[in-house]
Amino acid sequence: MKKIILISTLALFSNAVFADDPSKYQEESRAVAMPFLKKLAAANKEAVSNGGHASAVGVCKDIAPNMSGEISRQTGWKLTRVSLKVRNPLLGTADAWEQKKLQEFAERAAKGEKPETIEASEIVDEPAGKSFRFMKAIALQPGCVACHGAKEEIPAEVQARLNTDYPHDQATGYKVGDIRGAVSIKRPL
Ligand code: HEC
Repeated sequence: MKKIILISTLALFSNAVFADDPSKYQEESRAVAMPFLKKLAAANKEAVSNGGHASAVGVCKDIAPNMSGEISRQTGWKLTRVSLKVRNPLLGTADAWEQKKLQEFAERAAKGEKPETIEASEIVDEPAGKSFRFMKAIALQPGCVACHGAKEEIPAEVQARLNTDYPHDQATGYKVGDIRGAVSIKRPL
């Protein structure tokens, strides 16, 4: 009998201690964010090789929001891609926490940290509720330049398509290795 009481007390105790274990949440967030970025890059590549960059703009417009929407439905967490210079302001605009972290990411990269390894996570208590927030930097790769690079690197037909679909596009002028933005996860606690 005593033993059972001890075990259940321990279980209660460990629940209290580990309920908000940030490193566990961080691992779980990474396990969602990394495959998302990988799958997205593969889908992007496939769209470009199937129909060229201009037609891939249309595919990108659907693929990324569909993928992140699906993950959000499956996990109950909000997953988005955010940036300080957005193409799609509706989905990509960073909130206050994300803006602060993106600025810190830029400072960390300027000090020599590799963008691929830059992350942030924090348990935040906002008026809307408590959540675990996670962000991972997205670095620009050679395959991104045709749609996010300098003006002279973007083919005319891609630019025309961007002008039509994203009249307020700010997401150009990036070099390979720059931080294009971040994948952001907000998990209600
Ligand atoms: C074929 C053109 C194309 C290529 C190639 C491309 N993108 Fe994009 N990117 C887009 C479009 C279009 C959007 C807007 C999607 C939307 O409407 O949600 C976008 C949006 C984004 C966003 C979301 C934030 C924002 O600005 O709205 C990030 C982050 C991003 N791209 C990163 C990348 C990275 C990193 C690569 C290379 C691995 C890449 N993109 C390759 C066209 C492209």
